[in-house]
Amino acid sequence: MEGSNTISMILMQDDLDKLAVYCNPKNKTWVFSAVCSHLGRSVGWNNAEKSWDCPCHGSRFDCYGKMISR
Ligand code: FES
Repeated sequence: MEGSNTISMILMQDDLDKLAVYCNPKNKTWVFSAVCSHLGRSVGWNNAEKSWDCPCHGSRFDCYGKMISR
């Protein structure tokens, strides 16, 4: 993952939820809720750290949606 320039991400909103989508350099895609597990704000992509960060209280999630700091 590190050093690649083919990482892509988008935030989508379906009828019920905001979704975070991550596609790795081999075009494998992960889709998960963009809603922060702390208090429900939407995460945003941090391209420098390749993480999903919540602007509310600072929780961070890796590109696959796993919490890395609270
Ligand atoms: S709602 Fe995301 S850190 Fe609090």
